Amino acid sequence: MARKLALALVLVVSTSVVLAGTPADASSSPATPGAVGAGDPYYPLDGNGGYDVKHYDLAIRYAPSSDALAGVVTIRAVATQRLSAFNLDLDGLTIRSVTVDGRPAKWSRDATELTVTPRRSLGKGHVFDTRIVYDGVPKVIRDPDLGDGGAFTTDDGVVILGEPDVAQAWFPSNDHPSDKASFSIALTVPKDLQAISNGVPAGRSTARGWSTWRWEQREPMATYLAMAAIGKFDVTSYRKNGIQFLDAIDPALPAETYARVAKSFAREPEILRFLSGCFGPYPFRGAGGIVDADGEWDYALENQGRPIYTPQDFDTQEDGDSVVVHELAHQWYGDSVALERWRGIWLNEGFASYAEWLWSEHEGLETAQQIFDRRYATPATSSLWKSKVADPGPPNLFIGAVYNRGAMTLHALRLTVGDQKFFRILRSWAQIHRNGNVTTEEFIALAEHISGRDLGALFTAWLYTPSKPALPVATSRAG
Ligand code: ARG
Ligand code: ZN
Repeated sequence: MARKLALALVLVVSTSVVLAGTPADASSSPATPGAVGAGDPYYPLDGNGGYDVKHYDLAIRYAPSSDALAGVVTIRAVATQRLSAFNLDLDGLTIRSVTVDGRPAKWSRDATELTVTPRRSLGKGHVFDTRIVYDGVPKVIRDPDLGDGGAFTTDDGVVILGEPDVAQAWFPSNDHPSDKASFSIALTVPKDLQAISNGVPAGRSTARGWSTWRWEQREPMATYLAMAAIGKFDVTSYRKNGIQFLDAIDPALPAETYARVAKSFAREPEILRFLSGCFGPYPFRGAGGIVDADGEWDYALENQGRPIYTPQDFDTQEDGDSVVVHELAHQWYGDSVALERWRGIWLNEGFASYAEWLWSEHEGLETAQQIFDRRYATPATSSLWKSKVADPGPPNLFIGAVYNRGAMTLHALRLTVGDQKFFRILRSWAQIHRNGNVTTEEFIALAEHISGRDLGALFTAWLYTPSKPALPVATSRAG
């Protein structure tokens, strides 16, 4: 055993030394191209196979006068097989050059697939840097079912956000949430504009009329959660409870909307404290929110550490607070604990919606039980009861049932196992899978493990059966 271990160590050390100079694999296994997709049946071409991204370094200049960006992206990845070639996802834009480990590489494009063929094959386990120089006007990816994602030009800049597809509209990436990585993001913009991104600020410099805003997202992040908001914002930043807060509000908002946004954002530390009490410690170093006065997207999104909202989210103070709670709850469920497959979307939306129920009760408004009862009273013919929440199908990722019946599923679990075990399940889920990827099957297994009960029938009825489930039987309400 010990000798084998020592030998393995020597091999690991010597392999990395050898590979540092020569990417070619000395082993006899043939080099093959990595898969063109991550294997998600909802979006077969999203993501790719054969490697695992560790870090994205994005250096992107954006010119509002032409809406064009010019980027240099360096992707550090480890090969998970011996690779003759590998794919990245990129939708639009023009590639100027590609290198792998500093050497020019061949590349070709077919729709959203960019195939890179390095000069020599990459051995399994080899860590390699792919550097891509590119430019162009980033697009809006239109999706009549889900809503649009991509680069939305605003009156004074651009906001880039979307789910599930957005990253491939602005940088070459392994664009699937199953491959999370850390990010360094440097955005260069005319010096009278701000450029906000994920994580924590890492400095700003100005030269010849352009400012570079640097952001560090150290905890791994799914590609769709990477964002940029460029324009004129009132930026507020402060440190509280060990978290670096940074909010950006567009001064062009109508005064009443602006006031409500500012008031909801000012509650972020309080909201995070409340959610931490329910779910465990906040998973990231940075937090905050962004509102731009005019963009044509029509949803809030839980961009890691710094969600983006629409002005309409703040039509009332109560709604504004609630959507901030929703997006901040996603930091635990969706961002830190991310999807392995898109079919598991209820693990994001059901959980974030349930956080709104908990908040409502905390605020002295409707209790979680009252919200459950109100929704349960929905007639059996309603669309709420007609989908398989844990596998809704690609056009139905964001239908109401995923949110509401997803949250109801959690409440049904709570009624079944009792409060104490229920909150232990939620906290363990966030803790065990922090910075990881998950499936519904894993959640069911954890709930059964912690409760010591067979919950198959409960979850089958609530998540997989397109009809109205019976009310759960509360055996031990006190847990
Ligand atoms: N995840 C977002 C939320 O928190 C919704 C995103 C909707 N995406 C879309 N393409 N319409 O509710
Ligand atoms: Zn959500």
